[in-house]
Amino acid sequence: MAEIALELVDIEKSFGPLEVLTGVSLSVPEAGCYGLVGDNGAGKSTLLKILSGVYPRDAGEIRIMGKPVDFHSAIDARFSGIEMIYQDLALAGELDAASNIFLGREHYRGSKYPPFRWLDHKRMHAEAAKVLESVGSRLSTDRQVKWLSGGERQLVAVARALEFDPRILLMDEPTAALSIEKVNEVTRLISRLKDRGVSMILVSHRFTDLIQVADTIGVLVHGRIVDEFEVVGQSTDEMTTRIVRLMGEADAGALK
Ligand SMILES: Nc1ncnc2c1ncn2[C@@H]1O[C@H](COP(=O)(O)OP(=O)(O)OP(=O)(O)O)[C@@H](O)[C@H]1O
Ligand SMILES: [Mg+2]
Repeated sequence: MAEIALELVDIEKSFGPLEVLTGVSLSVPEAGCYGLVGDNGAGKSTLLKILSGVYPRDAGEIRIMGKPVDFHSAIDARFSGIEMIYQDLALAGELDAASNIFLGREHYRGSKYPPFRWLDHKRMHAEAAKVLESVGSRLSTDRQVKWLSGGERQLVAVARALEFDPRILLMDEPTAALSIEKVNEVTRLISRLKDRGVSMILVSHRFTDLIQVADTIGVLVHGRIVDEFEVVGQSTDEMTTRIVRLMGEADAGALK
């Protein structure tokens, strides 16, 4: 059995009077992929943002390799080996691909502190090209991000996350705006990351794509995990019916 890389125990989160997460517990083994599905507003992005240090949790525990951790910022989470690819990708459109990959941790040459130091563009472009290549992209690193296609941007966002060499990668709707061909590219990329030993939580509305890479599926309904199952041994139809029934019931409940 692989070790548990990430474990959440009874995570709770409210925004004012709005209860968004209630007693969420789940675990992801090393090199495992946990697929999280749920309706709009179910709390998926909120859960990932708690894990990446963007929001504090109200209650519950986060454990990494069995050790409880406390994050006060995204930097704390990064220090524990967690990287997140945000639903909106959070890239700077005006900057080129290399600058985005190194945004906030640029390489300099010269002295360690200003003013006698300069951005080391040559090194950043060379390293950016290398990390892009490692995710199967030959994108030119001086392309401005705002002109890139959805798939290319996705790869830049993934390359940026990988530059930190994460142990745990959180991906929020990485294939939402992509063509079928690009979805397949991202799916292949995720499989490669698993082979490298990275553990993942992947949020996606595209269930058929999700089950190609996820080992376990969790269904989040109104901030609660209402079902969890292994992908192996079930047909796509069985799983889809199971999920639609749960999300349908929840919607029906909300109308009461
Ligand atoms: N910073 C915030 N302040 C107040 N409410 C918030 C905040 N962030 C999220 N919410 C609310 O929490 C609920 C869950 O939002 P969340 O973004 O986690 O949903 P989601 O499952 O990711 O949905 P989607 O599938 O549409 O991306 C929503 O009702 C949302 O309006
Ligand atoms: Mg979301």
